Amino acid sequence: MQVRTVATTPFTDQKPGTSGLRKRVPAFKQPHYLENFVQSIFDTIKAPAGATLVLGGDGRYYNREAIQVILKMAAANGFGRVLVGKGGILSTPAASCVIRKYQTHGGIILSASHNPGGPDGDFGIKYNGGNGGPATEGVTEAIFARSKALAEYRTLDVADVALDELGETALGQMTVQVIDPVADYAELMESLFDFDAIRSLLSGGFRIKFDAMHAVTGPYAREILVNRLGAPADSVMNAVPLPDFGNGHPDPNLTYAHELVEIVYGKDAPDFGAASDGDGDRNMILGRGFFVNPSDSLALIAANAKLAPGYRQGLAGIARSMPTSEAADRVAEALGIPCYETPTGWKFFGNLMDAGKVTLCGEESFGTGSDHVREKDGLWAVLFWLNILAARRQSVEAIVREHWAKYGRNFYSRHDYEGIPTDAANGVMKLLKDSFASLTGAQFGHLQVKLCDDFGYTDPVDGSVSTGQGVRILFVDGSRIVFRLSGTGTEGATLRIYLESYEPDVGKHHLDAQEALATLIGIALQVSELKQRIGRDKPTVIT
Ligand code: G1P
Ligand code: ZN
Repeated sequence: MQVRTVATTPFTDQKPGTSGLRKRVPAFKQPHYLENFVQSIFDTIKAPAGATLVLGGDGRYYNREAIQVILKMAAANGFGRVLVGKGGILSTPAASCVIRKYQTHGGIILSASHNPGGPDGDFGIKYNGGNGGPATEGVTEAIFARSKALAEYRTLDVADVALDELGETALGQMTVQVIDPVADYAELMESLFDFDAIRSLLSGGFRIKFDAMHAVTGPYAREILVNRLGAPADSVMNAVPLPDFGNGHPDPNLTYAHELVEIVYGKDAPDFGAASDGDGDRNMILGRGFFVNPSDSLALIAANAKLAPGYRQGLAGIARSMPTSEAADRVAEALGIPCYETPTGWKFFGNLMDAGKVTLCGEESFGTGSDHVREKDGLWAVLFWLNILAARRQSVEAIVREHWAKYGRNFYSRHDYEGIPTDAANGVMKLLKDSFASLTGAQFGHLQVKLCDDFGYTDPVDGSVSTGQGVRILFVDGSRIVFRLSGTGTEGATLRIYLESYEPDVGKHHLDAQEALATLIGIALQVSELKQRIGRDKPTVIT
């Protein structure tokens, strides 16, 4: 079989964002667009001849076509074997698990995570290295640089590979091995959590509802929650993955997972509710009529980690992204372990985990995970919660309230302004940065600004520096406002405002977060001139 070298011209917009290259499907369908980016990855990573690659995606529209393109290009670029999930499916954490378990060179994951799919929806592609984690900034920048200079790519002229049967197929010199996308991952979960205890919880009448949002976790949740843990079949809803996610927005938050939210806040609600996103790395945790803020979830998992067999030996440390609340810091302090504050995006946790500095990490954006893989992991978080619930036999709400009583409550909220004009968004960020001097020391009612900056991070493992990671306004009493522009959107700009204040007084813990944060919200709107500049008087999503 002949390798065909195809002449091409570079695209100028193949810069990976927070989590890989994400564009609308029509952009990816342009001739040579996907091929150029894949060749840029291969040229950058320089895998030795015969290396093994993992390949799979969240099943969204264009997943199958892209897999065929990548398989042929991998064969033409000298890979020896590609492990591809059956039907082209691999959740992001499962891909990370498979990369690590079989010690492969790395993997390519096709997903635009929680962004909507379909012919006019989003598509995405990212490279994960041999540790199973997203490529570091250095690698993604090198891929981008390569994409701007690319003159040709290599492929094979062969028929498509069958993806729906397990087994091996030869593609030129390369072997395509279609694997069960769930088995390795499910086995890893069984090794971490007390499945017997969870099984007994579920058989004792504790009712759960997991919303797969017609995305990748359907088959994983069925196998683990229903087949292995004995939950009734109707415990998993929207379990069939669909290329357009059933026209939904597969983002597990209070806005987009409203179907589940209505169930857990409704009559005869289950004891526990959870949802995951398009590619299975996010999680939302709910109790009966009760929402667990993701920042609190991280803190709570950390405080209760020893209840799970895989974490019985204790935690090395915790890492959280800068905008995530400081609730986890308080647990780390109590446990006498370090807590690291990184920029947004999972790629910053990889070095810390590889160096053995942290066991748990999390982001406010419904991302929680540990060093069992190098991605955040939605079902892992669900199982961790079920393990804690099985051990403590209290309601979700009671566990959270006890946690607040012990550590104090970090009131926390994120306000997203989605799809705003890029110029206006940049204008807001510039205004804030230009205001650092005048804001420092300024008094707003009882709150005084202690410090303003644009967050920067020096990786404690490799010394690499990342700047411009979000504007912070820090107050003397520990309250914070953070402004950031999203790096994952594909349309206009998304401005995120993160708000936090600490409340040690248990008598005030019943307050609604928006109520408790009202003063900070007012300050955020005032200093950013948001209403005047973007003409919106309400955020698109409040978490
Ligand atoms: C968002 C989240 C961030 C997360 C990323 C990928 O990125 O805020 O925490 O790591 O998605 O899931 P953003 O759009 O804010 O750049
Ligand atoms: Zn995701």
